[in-house]
Amino acid sequence: MTKWDRRNFLASAAAMGATLAWARPVPAASRITWREARTLYPEGVASGDPDPHSVMLWTRRPFSGRPRAELTAEIALDPDFRRVVATMQVPVLAESDWTCRVLAAGLQPATVYWYRFTDEAGHGSRVGRTLTAPLDDDPRTVRFAFVSCQSVNEGAQNAYRRMIWEDERAPDGRQLGFVLHLGDFIYEVVEYPDEVPHRYDRTVFDIGRVPDARKVDNFHVPTTLDGYRMVYRAHIDDPDVQDARARWPFICIGDNHEFSWQGWQSFIKYDGKAEPAQALRVAANQAWWEYIPSRVRKASGPGLDRFAPPAVIDAPVPTLDADGFGDEANNRLAVGSMTAYRAARYGRHVDLIMTDFHSYTMEDPTSRPEANAFDLPDFPFFMPQETLEILDGGRNYDGNRPPDTIALGEKRIPNFRKDEPVYTMLGRTQKAWLKERLTASTATWKIWTPTNGPLDMRTDPQNLPAGLTTPWPGKSYATFGGGDFSAAFTERADIYDHVRAAGIDGFVTVSGDRHSFWAGYAAKALPPRTFDPVGVSFIVGSISAPGLAEALEHGLKGHRLRPLFVADRADGTKEATVNLLIRHGVRSALEYARTGDIDRARALTNRDVAPHLAFVDMGGHGYAVVTAGADAIETEFVCVPRPVARATTPDGGPIRYRVVHRAALWSGGKPTLEQRMLEGDARLSV
Ligand SMILES: [Fe+2]
Repeated sequence: MTKWDRRNFLASAAAMGATLAWARPVPAASRITWREARTLYPEGVASGDPDPHSVMLWTRRPFSGRPRAELTAEIALDPDFRRVVATMQVPVLAESDWTCRVLAAGLQPATVYWYRFTDEAGHGSRVGRTLTAPLDDDPRTVRFAFVSCQSVNEGAQNAYRRMIWEDERAPDGRQLGFVLHLGDFIYEVVEYPDEVPHRYDRTVFDIGRVPDARKVDNFHVPTTLDGYRMVYRAHIDDPDVQDARARWPFICIGDNHEFSWQGWQSFIKYDGKAEPAQALRVAANQAWWEYIPSRVRKASGPGLDRFAPPAVIDAPVPTLDADGFGDEANNRLAVGSMTAYRAARYGRHVDLIMTDFHSYTMEDPTSRPEANAFDLPDFPFFMPQETLEILDGGRNYDGNRPPDTIALGEKRIPNFRKDEPVYTMLGRTQKAWLKERLTASTATWKIWTPTNGPLDMRTDPQNLPAGLTTPWPGKSYATFGGGDFSAAFTERADIYDHVRAAGIDGFVTVSGDRHSFWAGYAAKALPPRTFDPVGVSFIVGSISAPGLAEALEHGLKGHRLRPLFVADRADGTKEATVNLLIRHGVRSALEYARTGDIDRARALTNRDVAPHLAFVDMGGHGYAVVTAGADAIETEFVCVPRPVARATTPDGGPIRYRVVHRAALWSGGKPTLEQRMLEGDARLSV
């Protein structure tokens, strides 16, 4: 929205039902008696979803013995509150777990503000800092960070400490405007250290007990709203998460763990068995809405004081509709209780188009019990690409001629997908919205946020040396199976074809979820099909959750193909040959495992295995910073060492490497990524 005045803002704020703090034209010194009392605001403060004239402010101030209280919110141009621009009384309710949201409005664009909350007794929150977005026609270069996957149970959030350290020292124009959080803001699967003191080489930290928990293997998972609320508090109680939220506005979209590890729509799944969980989906949505300040829409209407959940029951969902959505009233109500997908314009150069990959998706076919027949113990993780394509296509495969059985070497396995809809992660309505937004965007860079990475993850076991293991039963390439957008071949092609057909330049994807850093090209197909990229793609490593390289160090012991994934050196060092496997193919990975000679390993590259990749690190943690200007977009990966313990230095500890990938704006042609290694060593990743 480019035209703003008080009246049209109030109209839209009323539509949101917002508790509103409207800025006055002349700032004045605070008249509030504020004495900082952080212990009364244990989760600190936060802000979210800035636009050029407003931003959502948040705190939590628990009281006891009453159902509601009032706080005073102030927003100022200075951290000492001598130039306060808005003051507002805001309710805080027991019913909302004492979380509090207020929309500060009438603000100036591209401006730093400071905010705080004070209770009736003068006890104040810490002071937060936030920034408004630039106007839609503002030509300045945009900088923002993107992150995902913060586990306070198994790791330390040193990446945030490093991000804060660098931002505090960045010159004007180089500071971050916001943090884009791509999900797994919480891990709902909580371990208790008295039961599980360690996982891999990590310490399991005590983050408390989940009320009403259900035990699943080593994990305790929420079964109620109180359970989710406890898990959010545990994550936000982390000092580095809390400091990051107090320094920048966050723009958040959830991934799977905000609801359930293996969940989709309103289903959960444990031990391979799906269960309807409509009430749990509503609880997860409510806790998200309470703890993440944002402009998501909720079914109960626009008010910011309470979520007002719909009443649902956990009813069976016997059928899927034509788009793969569970055709049952409680499923629709539960999923519809909150609509998170949305877009955010940020200056002339950035449109963020955020999609929700778990509320409308079908069950991942490769995670179903019927898919166990495709397991290949001699080839861990691998699934023939042709198999995954058949499972993806469902009844639409091969021009609506799906096979009855799927060949795997000598075996014939029933095609359990042949009468089912084509696989979707977005669902029909959201996909139509995404395409419309992409077409309508006038920003230089159309940044789509598929939370689960769209870059293919495959290798070439057809090139394994004879005799190393049994013959590869696939026709050619192996994928690493389903589970993210790289396996949604049909839907991904539909979107990328749309980008091509509509002539959309500056198409960029940013993702999380994979617990690994990737840079490459957005393409619907790889050799032997035509490789025709329509944009560039970046995936950020996790803030702290363990990744595949770490898991592999502890798995596949004694397996004949272990050298493809990890090289065990005489001094105990373990090197992630899995990076070479994905980027260069099996021959490179084996050569490096055998000799440790990276040049010899690269000389054996299969150029057809991954023409879409410039960088892959399956063991990297940290964050990414995007710099988007008129002529080029850059993404810098800042990789920190495995975060097994909180850094003891204020800079968040050392850096493993820092690498930049830059693409000049292309027009009608193909993007090209340039790579610059600024610091450290990532030779297995390039
Ligand atoms: Fe994750």
